[in-house]
Amino acid sequence: MTDLQELYQQVILDHNHHPRNFGAIQNPDCEAEGYNPLCGDHYKVYCTLDGDKIKEIRFSGEGCAISKSSASIMTEILQGRSKEEVLRILDAFQKMIKGEELKEEDEEILDKAAVLAGVKDYPMRVKCATLAWHTLKAALEAFEKKEKTVPVISTDKE
Ligand code: FES
Repeated sequence: MTDLQELYQQVILDHNHHPRNFGAIQNPDCEAEGYNPLCGDHYKVYCTLDGDKIKEIRFSGEGCAISKSSASIMTEILQGRSKEEVLRILDAFQKMIKGEELKEEDEEILDKAAVLAGVKDYPMRVKCATLAWHTLKAALEAFEKKEKTVPVISTDKE
């Protein structure tokens, strides 16, 4: 393992043991629950919004180290971002996890989520890494449709 891979692994383990922004938001503007039917792991993602921006984003639930650290990193990098930026980051994250080529601006906007790039070499873990991100997308789409809570979404179609 290279020094960089080791560092990335340490960051992932740190987020798993000490997840950031963990716990529900009371009265969020939007929320959704995501579920991985392969393992039963599930997370809820909650947001409050300030106009076009995410004011606060938190998550709760249970899952493996990859899914929990991915959710934790996601909440860290999306705090205060505009919806347009969030969609760009979501798109870049999907591309990175699927091993697609990234533009320089994709790499910049991914920030510390880049520590999860190695997941692309483990297809069985892709659903773990993207679970919270799919869930956030569902929550924001529900807000656009003026629905506060959306049903559990499954990631089995990926
Ligand atoms: Fe269930 Fe990773 S093993 S989300």
